[in-house]
Amino acid sequence: MKTIKPFIRFVGGKSWYLKQQIKLFPEKINNYHEPFLGSGSIFFYLKASKLITKTAYLSDINSELITTFQEVKANTNQLVTKLSKLENDRETFYKVRDQRFTANLDKATRFLYLNRTSFGGIYRVNKNGDFNVPYGNRQYKTFIDVENVFNCASILKDETKLDSHCFTDKGYNISENDFFCLDPPYLGENIPFNRYNSKKFGATEVAFLLNLINEINKKNAKYLLFVGDNKELISELHDYGYHQTLSKTNNLSFTGPSRNLSETIIKNY
Ligand SMILES: C[S@@+](CC[C@H](N)C(=O)[O-])C[C@H]1O[C@@H](n2cnc3c(N)ncnc32)[C@H](O)[C@@H]1O
Repeated sequence: MKTIKPFIRFVGGKSWYLKQQIKLFPEKINNYHEPFLGSGSIFFYLKASKLITKTAYLSDINSELITTFQEVKANTNQLVTKLSKLENDRETFYKVRDQRFTANLDKATRFLYLNRTSFGGIYRVNKNGDFNVPYGNRQYKTFIDVENVFNCASILKDETKLDSHCFTDKGYNISENDFFCLDPPYLGENIPFNRYNSKKFGATEVAFLLNLINEINKKNAKYLLFVGDNKELISELHDYGYHQTLSKTNNLSFTGPSRNLSETIIKNY
């Protein structure tokens, strides 16, 4: 099996989950839904392992992120060529960060360039929705793994649908043995970077999430939910599924060293 890594860096990425010694996924997966896509680390793993037998529905509220996935999928060559013309240095970084584009290929080039060269791979925007993470000073010769981008593109070309919307804005067609990977933004108050975008994740979103999980259970489908260390949500969900608290290394801190943290998952398989 080819090792496929997500082509973007993402704080809150779930690569650590793939190393846990537990039953990671259901045995049978028909359609796959990931409505909080981020870097798609779990999607790429499942697809590369050929564990998804039908369609993968991937979405995220971050439209630039989804545009980037769409351009990686449809215009890989052009995207890689544009990226290869950009230097990984401070001057280019701030020039690109200040640019605004209308064409999707340019938007995706900017997004991917900033993601690979910014500080910590953090996605953070200000009140106006402008990306405001500083230059990362990462001394890569090549800041993008071109072969991996092409591998990701071929995976995305296979039975995968991409869409940008808030997860509450669309209905879900749920059938038996469909699998939902639910990784909402961190909800704990003490997490420094819980803002991926300008929309808050509040009580309405949590209620929708709980309702979605009820529907998944009714249809005999499967879900995996990441709840961070949100004690309130964990206790609200105590009847819902099988809870496990897992250890992981924190990479959320801007300046400090990594810390060991725990994250609770809830699943019904
Ligand atoms: C914790 S990250 C997901 C990380 C992903 N599992 C990975 O491995 O990279 C949460 C994602 O949810 C998205 N998001 C936040 N609020 C959302 C909403 N209301 N609807 C859909 N996506 C949302 C963010 O843009 C972010 O990409």
